[in-house]
Amino acid sequence: SRTYVVTGAASGIGKSTSELLTEQGHRVIGTDLRDAEIVADLSTASGREQLVEEVTRVSGGGVDAVLAVAGLATPNAATVAVNFYGTVATLEGLRPLLLRSPSPRAVAVSSMAALFPPDETLLNALLDGSETEAMARAAELEAGDAQRSSLIYGTAKRALSRWIRRQAPTAEWADASIPLNAVAPGVVYTPMTAYIMSDAAARSQVAAMVPMPLNGFFEPRGVATLLAWLTSEDNAHLCGQIIYIDGGSDAVLRGDTV
Ligand code: NAI
Repeated sequence: SRTYVVTGAASGIGKSTSELLTEQGHRVIGTDLRDAEIVADLSTASGREQLVEEVTRVSGGGVDAVLAVAGLATPNAATVAVNFYGTVATLEGLRPLLLRSPSPRAVAVSSMAALFPPDETLLNALLDGSETEAMARAAELEAGDAQRSSLIYGTAKRALSRWIRRQAPTAEWADASIPLNAVAPGVVYTPMTAYIMSDAAARSQVAAMVPMPLNGFFEPRGVATLLAWLTSEDNAHLCGQIIYIDGGSDAVLRGDTV
């Protein structure tokens, strides 16, 4: 039995993954804003520190896998704080706890929305600028019209996918024998996407942006199964992969990029 940390464990993909890992006989330390063993707010620096302190205490100083699932999809700056800085802080902050594991693993949840055209100013600030600069740009986009604010989510996820690809082959991760990867789901039925499901116009708009020829929108358990494998002992060699579990939208939108 292994010890797994799952952020966003109270809902949707994180909840489904926690249930699957528990069924498999593992110890799951779930964390979220509520309804979780550890309650911590990943949108703030103090919440991120608290997460690391509490996981360290509760786990006794060692974990086998970190699954950074928590995220927001609202068109505002908080989405950048959670989806990029919260995720990076989770992975970097808990990395020392992975070093004691015989088979440590780490994974984040990006999105196929990372393939949408980004706001370049925000993307550059996230990857190569300061958090202050990036949050100021996110606030500008939030204050703009619906088209500008809608760039926030995909841009934060693109930055996260890039961060994973940059970090995975480095001394911190690959040289420490920690496979670091991400999954990029298409549209999954969770509370995050409930508004789409209850509104026919939103549903067809999303279906046009996210073409999913293989089985269409799907259940969180489908993503949970992949996350569980990526963080299992069986996955020893994937490094810096962004795995599109998206019913084919990546293949449709950019099939010839290989
Ligand atoms: P969800 O809304 O059901 O679950 C997300 C969880 O993250 C919630 O329990 C929420 O409380 C937690 N969270 C939000 N802000 C937080 C904060 N400041 N601190 C700590 N926890 C916080 O959504 P879902 O769909 O399960 O999303 C999970 C991940 O999957 C997210 O990163 C999302 O962007 C990503 N994703 C979801 C897709 C979908 O179609 N549902 C598609 C692609 C990616």
